[in-house]
Parts: sequence; structure tokens; C-alpha cells
Amino acid sequence: MPASLFSALSFFAGSEWDTAPHDDGTAAHSARVGQGSALVASRLGLDRDVVDLVAWAGTLHDIGKLRIPAAILHKTGPLTPEEWDVVRGHPGDGAAMLMTASPELSPIADGIRSHHEQWDGSGYPDGLQGDEIPLFGRIISVLDVYDSLTCPRPYRIRSWSEQDAVDYIRSSAGSRFDPTLVAVFLELHERVNSARRAG
Ligand SMILES: [Fe+2]
Repeated sequence: MPASLFSALSFFAGSEWDTAPHDDGTAAHSARVGQGSALVASRLGLDRDVVDLVAWAGTLHDIGKLRIPAAILHKTGPLTPEEWDVVRGHPGDGAAMLMTASPELSPIADGIRSHHEQWDGSGYPDGLQGDEIPLFGRIISVLDVYDSLTCPRPYRIRSWSEQDAVDYIRSSAGSRFDPTLVAVFLELHERVNSARRAG
């Protein structure tokens, strides 16, 4: 990767969550999603430089949340339809931020834009289905949901057990997630968990 792109990505990673209103453990969550996404990408046999891009996309997947006002991001009660619209803008906003830095970051930007798409077409922002969803987004989606379920978040006091989260991922193969990637995740989840505990 050219040094200029690496420094642009490092800038995003460094500035991602360093403002207090957004600092709720999201940086650690993002790092774990990046690590886990890279493990899955490696297992798929992707080239080393592509695995690196997947890792960056996983690490930066929620960078668009910087554009969500803290009052909405940390609201504990139910969101209004208008507030949901703001939240649902974060994949597109994140992708746009990267593309502003360089069009060469488009594989990462596409992964960020598509990390809330669902295999059956019920996700957002584009309602893509199956293989239409960029591979990076399909990978990140599995790791993002797994990590979000197993770690406490502001809107959910109690996290799920690892076993319950694994069962959920398994039962969502072919509906929410790419079934091929679920199979890879299930093979790897002990390693994903070890990386999470170490990190
Ligand atoms: Fe997200």
C-alpha cells in the first residue's frame, strides 16, 4: 500500500474516536472487528494485501458515526423515525469520508458502506442481496454483530454469552449473513475469541 494511503488510514484510525462524546468503547470494538475480519479473510485464502484492506475496513467500519450527534448515538430510550434515519446514514457517511481522502480507498469504502446490508436484502443503505453485497461488507457484518452482542453497549446493559451469540450467527446463515462466511466464522470463532481476550 502506498505510504500516502497508509497515513490517511492511520489518520482516520487515530482520530476516529478521540472525542469524549463518542468514546464508549467503540475504538476497542472496531479494533476487534478489524482483527476478526482479517482472520476470516485469511481463512478464505485472500491475498495478504487484500486481507490488510479487510482489516482496515473492519477497523474503520463505523467511522461515519462521528457524524451522528452524541445525543442520538448515546440515547438509551427508543429512537424516533427521524433519529433512525440519522443513524442509518453512518455507513454512507463513513464511505464518503474515505473517498474524500482518496478514490484508491474505494474497496475499503465499499466495505464500510455495505456493513449493514443483509444477505436476504433487508439491510441498509442500499438493500443489496446475496453476492451483490461487497465481500468486505459481508465479512464485517458477521464480526460486527458477534462483537456487539457479546460486549456491553450503551443501549444494552447485559451482553450475550459467547455461546448464545454463536447460536444466533449460526441461525442467521442465509437470512442475515452469507452462509459461506458463517461456516468460516464457526470454524474460527475460538480464535476470534482468543484474539478478543488478548486485545
Ligand atoms: Fe455500523
